Amino acid sequence: MAVRAVASGRPGVRALRVLVSGGAGFIGLKLVERLLSARHSVSVLDNLHHQVHGEQPVADLIQRQTTFLRGDVRDASAWRALFPVDVIVHLAAETGTGQSLDEIERYVSTNVGGTAVLLDALKESGVQRVVVASSRAIYGEGLHRCAEHGLVSPQPRSVAALQVGDFEAKCPQCGLATAPVATHEDAPPRPASVYGTTKLAQELLVRQACEAAGVQSAVLRFQNVYGPGQSLKNPYTGILSIWASQIERGSTLDVYEDGRIVRDFVYVDDVVRALLDAVRRPDVAGETLNIGTGRATTLLDIISAFSQVLEREVPFEITGHFRPGDIRYAFADTTRSQRVLGYACQTPLEDGLRAFVTWARERLIRGHV
Ligand SMILES: NC(=O)c1ccc[n+]([C@@H]2O[C@H](COP(=O)([O-])OP(=O)(O)OC[C@H]3O[C@@H](n4cnc5c(N)ncnc54)[C@H](O)[C@@H]3O)[C@@H](O)[C@H]2O)c1
Repeated sequence: MAVRAVASGRPGVRALRVLVSGGAGFIGLKLVERLLSARHSVSVLDNLHHQVHGEQPVADLIQRQTTFLRGDVRDASAWRALFPVDVIVHLAAETGTGQSLDEIERYVSTNVGGTAVLLDALKESGVQRVVVASSRAIYGEGLHRCAEHGLVSPQPRSVAALQVGDFEAKCPQCGLATAPVATHEDAPPRPASVYGTTKLAQELLVRQACEAAGVQSAVLRFQNVYGPGQSLKNPYTGILSIWASQIERGSTLDVYEDGRIVRDFVYVDDVVRALLDAVRRPDVAGETLNIGTGRATTLLDIISAFSQVLEREVPFEITGHFRPGDIRYAFADTTRSQRVLGYACQTPLEDGLRAFVTWARERLIRGHV
């Protein structure tokens, strides 16, 4: 079943009514821009969370060109006020991995409770498809290869091991160190943080409730998203944004563990392209897809890339600090998203970092964080 489109008022253009929760956030705002340029009709539900937005007003674009409701995803009346719609893209969430272990009720309440409230209201929404943003955090350490036991899925690392500088993930069968491999969508979920657990719960809830209601659903599991528009204020946000701010302030970067933590950094425009496909394309219904570059990048690689982009050495110190709940290795196997979406990351890390650093510098100079 394809998502039904309605005439937009412009000859030859078909439009959808798309409700974006968290549409004022980093990924949401970029998605809203793209949906509006494609002449879809957009509504946004966002509580302008202080940790993300500070005192910044909502973007002009949202104020002027969408139906914007400042409200909480845990409030059923806020969702209902924006119905009927054709597609819901559910992005609103508490997003800090480390913070989630200290504020469990808050994370569960917004991410799981807010999704439950949406799903309870589904039958009144007229919606034909729900797209939910999930995360690489659901995999925990993801897939690894053990020299003895082949492909394995390590347990989260213990705080006791991290405290003595034992950072490597271990084979669950023999306890020896393993080598990471790109993680595909069928890898067993083993979240290492409350955040990861809530994202997994969101996925399952969306699948079950949509199936029961006869509504299509799609799950996109993002790797580490970065780019202009990312909150420079939120201390719990991605490492690139924290480091970009610290570099501009002349601080020495605190490099956790031994600097060899691996992530898959994907530029926001590449993620938004995948979201647009998930909104529009019939063949994405029912899919769970990794959205990343497939490239394994260490923290030390990132520092070299920053140095290259800025054309100067970036001061850093490898401190051995760690965060409980952090995973050692995460990078995506993107074979399925390539097959289903024809998805391929288009933005090389250096180009994305250059755009990000330029934007961050301008914001910081103007005091707009
Ligand atoms: N950025 C990443 O690297 C990344 C990686 C994996 C998954 N994701 C997922 O993508 C989605 C969007 O992330 P983002 O990076 O744009 O985050 P963001 O913090 O920039 O945006 C989230 C938005 O949700 C809003 N929000 C938070 N709690 C709310 C509530 N209770 N009610 C209404 N609105 C609320 C915030 O005000 C914010 O505008 C999230 O679901 C996140 O878990 C992001």
